[in-house]
Amino acid sequence: MNIDGKQVAADLRKTLAVKVELLKKEQGIVPGLTVVLVGEDPASQIYVRNKVKQTREVGMISNEIKLPVETTQTQLLEELAHLNDDKSVHGILVQLPLPKHIDESVIIAAIEPTKDVDGFHAMNSGRLLNGESGALVPCTPQGCIILAKTHLGDDLSGKHAVVIGRSNIVGKPVALLLLQENCTVTITHSRTKNLAGICQQADILVAAVGRPEFVKAEWIKPGATVIDVGINRIEDETGKAKLVGDVDYKNVQSVCGAITPVPGGVGPMTIACLLKNTIEAAQRCN
Ligand code: GUN
Repeated sequence: MNIDGKQVAADLRKTLAVKVELLKKEQGIVPGLTVVLVGEDPASQIYVRNKVKQTREVGMISNEIKLPVETTQTQLLEELAHLNDDKSVHGILVQLPLPKHIDESVIIAAIEPTKDVDGFHAMNSGRLLNGESGALVPCTPQGCIILAKTHLGDDLSGKHAVVIGRSNIVGKPVALLLLQENCTVTITHSRTKNLAGICQQADILVAAVGRPEFVKAEWIKPGATVIDVGINRIEDETGKAKLVGDVDYKNVQSVCGAITPVPGGVGPMTIACLLKNTIEAAQRCN
């Protein structure tokens, strides 16, 4: 069966809209998210447009700062310093990837951790690692856990979770969240030996490799829950562009117990969790 990320995200946004309304009424706070986009990467422009639209739809303030591709690292740092000081801004998101002349790690480190709604700052990733409360947790990994629980229920303890990919944005944080849920966690990556054999042990399989239809049906334990984080643009047989995940959906869906489709699975959850993080940041600011 499919796990309907579009529906789960819509339900979450409804709950968030109610929270925003309460925050306004009871504390006079309107949560504000500012998204910074440097350059004109077409995929990033689409992501940012969606973020702005959905932020406004739940009643929050959305600001977008568009900077030219030739913006220097110093100029971007100055912009962030203003946003860090601006009390009406509760969440700051710098859209990645940044142009090559800007060091992403320097930029992420310059975002005030309490406004780092991506959860990428070392303060937040360290808190997640230590299992401390108060961390802003990266959005896509949060979405993965919510979707897994939609199918499996709230108790994931004792399940063997296999993560393919070890990025700071998805692989590592989703592994930590699964560990927090008392799963037995295996992180695999490009140097892993016998990947198929390890995946065959997975009750929960999270694929975040960025390779189209990489995970095959023979790798799947019957009944497993498959969370596909991939968004890959490929051409179909007729040369038409289409989106596929990191999992060979067509063949895997008949073996697994549940799978997130692409599109309509993890993707919509990322923005919903971004709004959730911004509301949490706003609640903590006073
Ligand atoms: N680019 C692609 N995904 C993301 C994300 O989750 N956060 C940011 N800041 N940039 C991205």
